[in-house]
Amino acid sequence: MNRQLAFISFAAACILTACAREEAATQTPAPADVAAARAAANDLGARLKTRLLDALATGGPVAAIEVCNLEAPKIATVLSGETHMSVGRTALRWRNPANAPDDFERAAMEDFRSQIVGGADPAMLERAEIVTTPQGRQLRYMKPIMTGGPCTLCHGTDVSDEVKAAILARYPDDQATGFALGEFRGAFSITKDLEG
Ligand code: HEC
Repeated sequence: MNRQLAFISFAAACILTACAREEAATQTPAPADVAAARAAANDLGARLKTRLLDALATGGPVAAIEVCNLEAPKIATVLSGETHMSVGRTALRWRNPANAPDDFERAAMEDFRSQIVGGADPAMLERAEIVTTPQGRQLRYMKPIMTGGPCTLCHGTDVSDEVKAAILARYPDDQATGFALGEFRGAFSITKDLEG
């Protein structure tokens, strides 16, 4: 009897361990999915930057605000269609309320920000996790966006009155100024629906 009990508990322990292993395995993002999300984030950054620099060169910052306003969401939508992932940008202090973070994004950005303040190289930071939602399993991927040279024209500590007025006309609740060169600005955020 005792032996039987021992066997049953041994078998139960094995099954539980196997289940735990399988759970862990299914929660680890597949390297190919992470690579695809990282590529989409880099692609979004490159497309936005090209369009922004072109708009700044041809029309100056006030005209470029309109380009960002009209085209940044479109560029993200086109790339989302091409990659079959949801591709976008978010920030802890945002300009367009449509870019406001959800809980996952906020937590990831707070972590990025404190690591960067602590001396981490932003180019080496990313977060990739599988989350389970009522709609199914998703890969969530995030990568920091830093404040570079041209960015401070519209996000900096010393934005001109003209630019400020043009921003407030389109984004009355803007929170996205006051960033110093090299400061953490926000993040690319990619969501991919997973099978099963
Ligand atoms: C000409 C003005 C201008 C410049 C220069 C500019 N931005 Fe923006 N930025 C905007 C506008 C306008 C939006 C809102 C776009 C939208 O409606 O989706 C925005 C939105 C963003 C967002 C999305 C989150 C949010 O706050 O809504 C990030 C991140 C961002 N900018 C980062 C940058 C970085 C990094 C640079 C430099 C490479 C930069 N921006 C340069 C005007 C500018």
